[in-house]
Amino acid sequence: MRVLFIGGTGFISTAVSRQAIAKGFELYLLNRGSTPAHLPGSHHLTADIHKVEGVRLALQGLEFDVVVDWIAYAPDDIERDLALFRGRVKQFVFISSASVYQKPPTHYLITESTPLYNPYWQYSREKIACEERLMQAYRDEGFPVTIVRPSLTYDPNFPIAIGGWGCYTLADRLKKGLPIIVHGDGSSLWVVTHADDFGRGFLGLLGNGQALGHAFHITSDEVLTWDQIYQTIAEALGVEAKIVHIPSEFIGRVLPQYEGGLLGDKTWSVVFDNSKIKAFVPGFQATIPFRDGIRRTLAWFAADEKRQHIDEAVQKEMDLILKAYEGRF
Ligand SMILES: NC(=O)c1ccc[n+]([C@@H]2O[C@H](COP(=O)([O-])OP(=O)(O)OC[C@H]3O[C@@H](n4cnc5c(N)ncnc54)[C@H](OP(=O)(O)O)[C@@H]3O)[C@@H](O)[C@H]2O)c1
Repeated sequence: MRVLFIGGTGFISTAVSRQAIAKGFELYLLNRGSTPAHLPGSHHLTADIHKVEGVRLALQGLEFDVVVDWIAYAPDDIERDLALFRGRVKQFVFISSASVYQKPPTHYLITESTPLYNPYWQYSREKIACEERLMQAYRDEGFPVTIVRPSLTYDPNFPIAIGGWGCYTLADRLKKGLPIIVHGDGSSLWVVTHADDFGRGFLGLLGNGQALGHAFHITSDEVLTWDQIYQTIAEALGVEAKIVHIPSEFIGRVLPQYEGGLLGDKTWSVVFDNSKIKAFVPGFQATIPFRDGIRRTLAWFAADEKRQHIDEAVQKEMDLILKAYEGRF
């Protein structure tokens, strides 16, 4: 199977690229070549996806069974993809987000038929608009779309709400005994998924004719509280987490850039029903518990000190929120 990943060297997609190569897929990665990734066995096409003429040139003479766009965020991206791949591909996979699901949820258990509605987060509304455009193309012209909605997926990044995503800042604070922030009272439920688990479910959808016109989430079945997520990271580092609980609304007032990701996503308890992906990809089951997966992430950071980047902007943000919260009375 000849597969094109637009992106393919990112946080989730690197692990999936690695698995696709190991599975024997003929994998092409289209990106700018600026994100370091060691993926021998793949073919590299250098282009900026926002510069369409360059993309057309890079794709000239190539046909793909499957195209996955890992980095489409707005309906304009989808129009571009439709123009590029209409009539040229057997399956087009759009990477959406589980944050598209109804907020606040009216039912704790999320299935793929949970309504798509997010009044809090523009990112999620744009993903919903992308999904809707693609489903319209599926109905009107038979465009062979499959939609995949990852939830918080990690390795080698930290699956957290506050404290830095692709950097080492949270681990550094924990090791130094500095306070860290957990939104809410830390008891709401959340699901984090190791990229290798995600990849095994995901690759089972590629070239799978039954998946056309369908949407899927692919997550772990392990449900944790937010306190447990941060405590598990601390435990793996051999330290105790000094957690300060702060309401999401308060954090959003201090730093509005956090409002969408909290009130539009991580504030609400989520539990995913994964029976659909298990039905379409027989044998799929996420197998990496967070206590093991996070140790792999920490080992990746430990293997090279240069990876342990401390993001000073994130440090400042955390200190600002903590100071504002301490001084609120
Ligand atoms: N991680 C999660 O927990 C999560 C949860 C929900 C949804 N998602 C969705 O998952 C997707 C992200 O996947 P990811 O983590 O693999 O991606 P990512 O970390 O954002 O990676 C970006 C990838 O895209 C390439 N890229 C960036 N800008 C580009 C451009 N202008 N032209 C061509 N290539 C470009 C990068 O390579 P170069 O820099 O070399 O170009 C790299 O390969 C997004 O759609 C996101 O909404 C993720």
